[in-house]
Formats: sequence, C-alpha cells, structure tokens
Amino acid sequence: MQLAGTFRCSPNIALIKYWGRRDDALNLPNNSSVSMTLDSGLSTRTSVLFSDSLGSDVVYVDGNRYTQESAQNEKLGNIFETIRYMRGLAAVRSGAIVVSENSFPSGAGLASSASGGAALVCAVDAALGLGLSKTELSLIARRISGSACRSLFGGIALWKRGSKADGSDSFAEQLFDEKYWSELVDVIAMSSEASKKVSSSEGHSRTVRTSGLYKLRPALAEASVGKVIGAIRNRDFNALAELIMRDSNNMHATMLDSWPPIIYMSDVSTAIISSVHAMNKDHGENIAAYTFDAGPNAHVITLSKHEAEVRDMLLGTKGVIRVVSSKAGTGPERLGESLISEEILRHEAGN
Ligand code: DP6
Repeated sequence: MQLAGTFRCSPNIALIKYWGRRDDALNLPNNSSVSMTLDSGLSTRTSVLFSDSLGSDVVYVDGNRYTQESAQNEKLGNIFETIRYMRGLAAVRSGAIVVSENSFPSGAGLASSASGGAALVCAVDAALGLGLSKTELSLIARRISGSACRSLFGGIALWKRGSKADGSDSFAEQLFDEKYWSELVDVIAMSSEASKKVSSSEGHSRTVRTSGLYKLRPALAEASVGKVIGAIRNRDFNALAELIMRDSNNMHATMLDSWPPIIYMSDVSTAIISSVHAMNKDHGENIAAYTFDAGPNAHVITLSKHEAEVRDMLLGTKGVIRVVSSKAGTGPERLGESLISEEILRHEAGN
C-alpha cells in the first residue's frame, strides 16, 4: 500500500507578534497575534509518502536526512510526533518518508518552521485522506511551531490566544483574504542567512522567566490586535504602520530585557529602522513599517505605490545581501508532483 500527498505553504509575517507562552509543551501563547501569509515566491513544498515497505519514519529537510533518533532539535521532534499522531487518526501502520524543501534559507528569521509545519500537516492529511478541517489542521500545526497555525490561511490571519488548558480554543482563522487589501506588500531585506543563535523556543521561555518588562506585554499586544484589525478593515496604512512598528519594538525590548539578554537585531536592522523613520518623516505620514521576527532580517511592510522607494532604500543599506518582495498569498496549495524520487524511495525501502 502507498499513500502520498504534496502541499506548498508560505511563511507568514506577524504584524502583532506571538512571544511568550503560557504552555511550552502545547505552544499556547500569552497573547493573540495577527499575520500576513506571504505568497508562493517564498514557500515550503512538502511531500509525504506512507508505504508498507518502510519500517520507520524518515524526514528530509533541504537535503538533510533525519530519523527519530537523529532529530536533534525540538521542532524536528515535533514533526515526528505529528506524523505518528496523524497516522493514528487514520489507523494506518506504514512508515513515512517526508521530503521538504524551502525556497529560502531556513532558520534565518523567515519562519521556515511556520511554512514547514503547515505544509507537513496538509500533506499528511491529503496522503492519509483524513479530510480534516482548517481549524483541526491549525490546531495540529500549532503543536509543531506556534506560528505555523497561521500559515494554514491566506491573506490576513488571527491566532486567538484561547483560554482552555488543553489548547483546544487556540487556533488561527482567516480575517481578510489576499484580495482585501492587495496593495499591501512585504519587502524583505536579508542581511544574514545564518541560523539564529537563540532558538525561538528558548527565547519564548527565557523572556517569560526573566524579563520584568514582559509582564506588560500580553495586555499591550492583545489591545493592539483589535486596533490592527480595525486599521486593516479601514485600509488605514498610516495607523497600521505605527501599530506594526511599535509591536516589533515592544517585543524586541522584552528580549533585550531578558537575562542573559537576547538580541536578534543587528546593526543592519537598526540602520533600517532609522531609514524607515526618515522616509516616513519626509512623506509627512507613515508609508512604511519595519518589523523583525527572531532574526536580523527586516520585513518592511508598505503599499505597492511606495515599493520601489522602499526597495531602493534597502538595497542602499550597507550589509543588505538580498531584497525580496511578497504580497499576501492564497494559503496552502495542493501540488500534483512529488518531491520523493525513486532513488530516495529505493534507498529508504532498503533500510
Ligand atoms: C518572533 O513560532 O518559531 O516569529 O512555537 O517555539 O515554534 P515556537 O515559536 P515560533 O515563534 C515565532 C515568534 C515570532 C513572532 C511571530 O511569528 O508571531
């Protein structure tokens, strides 16, 4: 017996961030978050195959092979756990091969765990014919990586904090589709392709444990979620931009306030912050907003009419290696082709 499925999912950029968890094992956040899912130019493609000829599960990420035993990080461990859990739902016993490929460097603050987690649950669901709802898939993806639960939806997504201890009310939903405000664009400036020094998992827990400033964040972020939704609904970019920049600064302030401090931004990041404020001042209103995840790469959110000006500013910033633009994407996409070659299949079946 052979069961297969392939999906493409994209990362999302949080406009109001998830940082700090009320439950580390279940990835339950202290505050709700809002994000824009990027388009397919930046994406993870994942193929899954369940076959009776496979004794155990094996996962290839960007050409690197992992087994349950060699999965050295928590997220890979979560992936093996998810495969086992979903296989159980279908009462299937076969081993699985997963092949996952990112169109961008993983671990560089571009949320490969978000697109990867979402693509995995969609591909396994398709392979096993489970037919789970987006809400169910979002709940499962959240266990792999919190931010993955938002990549199940195109356009703008809201991940509600939820209040139940088992996390059953903490999942994402779509607020606006990708056409609602099609002028929105994320101009990403890559200045480093290196993996982050402090994993986001360690970062979440260190900040909650050690930052006094963090105590203020959940209520502030929760209030900003409502304001961001209002600004998007009214297509009010000036208001949206200030909310985005303040939330990113607030999150990074709590990171710096942690002990030992966590610093994800670099000199290039802070140069971009200054340039965005200078551009906004010149225009007499906010035409661009920077936001940074757990890494130094800048995401500058702007409107199509200002994209060229933002790109020029970023390309002229010393230390910027590459600039990529993305509009809001459509969300998960099922693909006809498989990334699992005959060669991989033969190799794994022989193991
Ligand atoms: C800074 O989703 O990577 O990107 O749940 O431990 O996998 P885990 O964390 P992760 O945290 C990302 C946080 C962020 C902000 C955000 O995307 O909301």
